[in-house]
Amino acid sequence: MAEETAEIKVGDKSIELPLITGTENETAINIGKLRAESGLITLDPGYKNTGATQSAITFLDGEKGILRHRGYSIEELAENSTFLEVAYLLIYGELPTPAEYETFTKDITHHTLVHEDFKKILDGFPASSHPMGVLSSLVTAMTAFYPESLDPNRSKEAVYMSIVRILAKMPTFAAWAFKNQMGHPVVYPKNNLDYCSNFLHMMFNLPSQDYDVDPVVSAALNKLLILHADHEQNCSTSTVRIVGSSQASLYVSLSAGINALWGPLHGGANQAVIEMLENIKADGGDTQKWMDKAKDKNDPFRLMGFGHRVYKNFDPRAKIIKKAADDVLEKLGVVDPVLDIAKGLEEVALKDPYFVERNLYPNVDFYSGIIYRALGIPTEMFTVMFALGRLPGWIAQWKEMRENNEPIGRPRQVYVGETERPYVDMSKR
Ligand code: ACO
Repeated sequence: MAEETAEIKVGDKSIELPLITGTENETAINIGKLRAESGLITLDPGYKNTGATQSAITFLDGEKGILRHRGYSIEELAENSTFLEVAYLLIYGELPTPAEYETFTKDITHHTLVHEDFKKILDGFPASSHPMGVLSSLVTAMTAFYPESLDPNRSKEAVYMSIVRILAKMPTFAAWAFKNQMGHPVVYPKNNLDYCSNFLHMMFNLPSQDYDVDPVVSAALNKLLILHADHEQNCSTSTVRIVGSSQASLYVSLSAGINALWGPLHGGANQAVIEMLENIKADGGDTQKWMDKAKDKNDPFRLMGFGHRVYKNFDPRAKIIKKAADDVLEKLGVVDPVLDIAKGLEEVALKDPYFVERNLYPNVDFYSGIIYRALGIPTEMFTVMFALGRLPGWIAQWKEMRENNEPIGRPRQVYVGETERPYVDMSKR
């Protein structure tokens, strides 16, 4: 069959470019030779319509609200699997066999303890430090403790160890970032606990008060982490891939991803949603007033947790999380007035022409903060929780990029600044 092509006409010159079709029939124009043949580049601020890679990890159909990892639907994974099972699936491409799962979880469990010198680094951070900044710093510091990880071209076994170590130690770093903020002593990991329970143990145990992990809380955390595990080429994942494309090591690529996630338009939205809902509550709970603010183009306020670059129908993760929020609050007997405000806002927004016309629906972060709050996790830790969940996705995407031998990421630009002009001496300015 002849290769399908697209034709671009510029003036009277016509350039034929190959079409690439993915396994879900998504088609792209491969513009690789456009510049060589025409001198033209494409311009797409925010990469709204630009594919940066061919990936086999996550499929997302924003119009139909579909999200699948390696072919498995997010609904089935969230219902049936553990977070480490999903991590293995994302990173290695298949659901693990019982033997593979046992080895993977055992390896991770045995590396949860971090070098004592990490405590010295942690001690240098004032209690006012945002835990996201502490987390990204500690992940970068991994390069100092495991210098062999600096070379991403080392053996498969070495890369495996780097992956195991970071999956094992991120919950420890995350919990310790919180302890640092509280001014409390750090709690060491316990190897007889599963991944989520161990994190909760390190977060909430105090020398003055034992903390028994509630299985309801642990199961809810497992679900939340799965729902955040990967989301193809979003801002932080693209950051991880682009940093890694310079052959920077796994740990620094991940640290860059953590920083990219921090912003309120991305992972920072979960913190921003709760702060917004609290503000609305303190302001008397008038949802219409805040809706009007969100629609006012002269007001910078946006309805946080609403809208998504890709989902234009609904975010399947938001659907699962909304139900989980109801279940968790009921099971834990928590009454959170902010949940009613959130539901009220959603109800009004889904009928409002401004939101309907722009396809703005609740995203994954609209309800996740409410569950985190019910689990006892403080607001500034919400984005850290997102980072814990997204970690396997970042690792899988970094590994795929390396294995595909992708070239260094280096976009072009259209220059719109001054044309050449003579230097003006300081005395004449
Ligand atoms: N509240 C009010 N208006 C909004 C919102 C919102 N939350 N989101 C988008 N809009 C409006 C824009 O003003 C714009 O209107 P216009 O066409 O009249 O100018 C239109 O909808 C399109 O918005 P863009 O910003 O162009 O869409 P984009 O795809 O660039 O942005 C984003 C997506 C960043 C998620 C945006 O919807 C937003 O800021 N949402 C709030 C922050 C948030 O919840 N982020 C988390 C995203 S999910 C995640 O990262 C895990």
